[in-house]
Amino acid sequence: MIGAPGSGKGTQGALLAEFLGLPCIGLGDLMRAEAQAGTPRGRELQAHMDAGRLAPDDLASEIVEIALTSSTDGFVLDGYPRTVAQAVRLDDFLATRAADLDLVVVFRVAEDALISRLASRGREDDQPEVIRQRLAIYWESANELIAYYGGRIVELAADGAVDDVHGRLLEGLREAIAS
Ligand code: AP5
Ligand code: MG
Repeated sequence: MIGAPGSGKGTQGALLAEFLGLPCIGLGDLMRAEAQAGTPRGRELQAHMDAGRLAPDDLASEIVEIALTSSTDGFVLDGYPRTVAQAVRLDDFLATRAADLDLVVVFRVAEDALISRLASRGREDDQPEVIRQRLAIYWESANELIAYYGGRIVELAADGAVDDVHGRLLEGLREAIAS
């Protein structure tokens, strides 16, 4: 799942994973858990998150690959990859396991809705300045990443109520699988 901060990747990822009976692997969640543990790597991750910038590609990929290793029946991936370098590495990693991404969902939400969702959540990195930075960083790589995935992309209109978005997501996935 690719989408701007606040577009609903975590919310919809959890619902989709439950629907499919698969794990949802969210890199931001994994990074926050590691930061919470207070290891040296956790402190480095926290510094990246606090500044609203991406962690280095290699570090991000290592964390996800460890989680993917135990997800042999399939998975929903939230927020990874975010750069073409990460996408290439993910394709290589999955190829070694005779696996592949089936579909890539792109969440589309109006920017004012993103900002109001994040402002009312109030996570540590939901300060107005950090939100602006996260949005800017997202748009630095999003279009290139979407182009990389080409025909595997499912566009999702992700404005509106959570249940409605979930319904549209399932519908979009069914259509893409059928075509
Ligand atoms: P991450 O945790 O992934 O944050 P993000 O991409 O900024 O996205 P959010 O989690 O804020 O939004 P979301 O799209 O998941 O929406 P959510 O469902 O939560 O990443 C955090 C940091 O980790 C990054 O800044 C970076 O430092 C690092 N990182 C992560 N991935 C990386 C990578 N690949 N490489 C390098 N570094 C990486 O919803 C947001 C809010 O809106 C919630 O309160 C929710 O309840 C609400 N909401 C959701 N849907 C709706 C709806 N339909 N209507 C109303 N409210 C809604
Ligand atoms: Mg999230």
